[in-house]
Amino acid sequence: FTPKVLAGRKVLLTAGPTFEPVDPVRGLTNSSSGKMGYSLARACAHAGAEVVMVSGPTGLPAPDGVRRIGVVRALDMRDAVIAELDGVDVFIAVAAVADYRPEASAEHKVKKSGESMTLTLVPNPDILSEVAARPDAPFCVGFAAESRDLDTYAEGKRQTKRLQMVVGNLVQDGLGTDDNQVVLYDADGRHPLPRAAKGELAGVIVSAIAERFGRSLLR
Ligand code: PMT
Repeated sequence: FTPKVLAGRKVLLTAGPTFEPVDPVRGLTNSSSGKMGYSLARACAHAGAEVVMVSGPTGLPAPDGVRRIGVVRALDMRDAVIAELDGVDVFIAVAAVADYRPEASAEHKVKKSGESMTLTLVPNPDILSEVAARPDAPFCVGFAAESRDLDTYAEGKRQTKRLQMVVGNLVQDGLGTDDNQVVLYDADGRHPLPRAAKGELAGVIVSAIAERFGRSLLR
């Protein structure tokens, strides 16, 4: 039994990695499996929400009750998120979005020359910051994936990106794994959660989001 704490609400999530093409066969990506984002999407649907998930390439099936929009590049993920924002109450950015992309993607396979080569990277838009900065911004939850100093970086991201909540995890705990250990950061401080399977953890995180979202409506 899952309490329908998000009944009547619309939740938009991002999940998985992005893939930034270098040429038709190669690209820059990371080892996000999508498990955390898909588990959260499923938990939001169980909690009664209308759920839309913009997902980078993963091998996972879309959870029941979740409308998935498949994308590849960060630029596509950004456009899909902005196009879906209408009526969204809660935005949860779980995707491991590439901060940079190759300045140009070659039309044909780059051939080996024996010489060293240089790849110029340009910054991608920060999707979460852009959504959170809108005058009609939904309740925004970000993730922070760090390899050290989790408290400093995660709380820093919450403040810089102007987010209601950040879910912080160390990459060695959560990236590509079946379980995860996270700390929630909000205006009241840090709230560590016990290590658990991502499916189980997702239910706890969604309850925490629903409670804070509910409180934000009373202000
Ligand atoms: O997919 P799994 O294998 O289950 O792994 C889960 C996870 C480790 C990917 C997940 O728990 C996680 O931490 N996701 C966020 C990864 C990340 O890119 O964090 P970040 O600290 O670089 O980014 C901070 C926040 O800004 C994130 O909410 C991210 O989605 C968002 N962002 C970042 C860059 C960008 N260009 N646009 C964004 O929206």
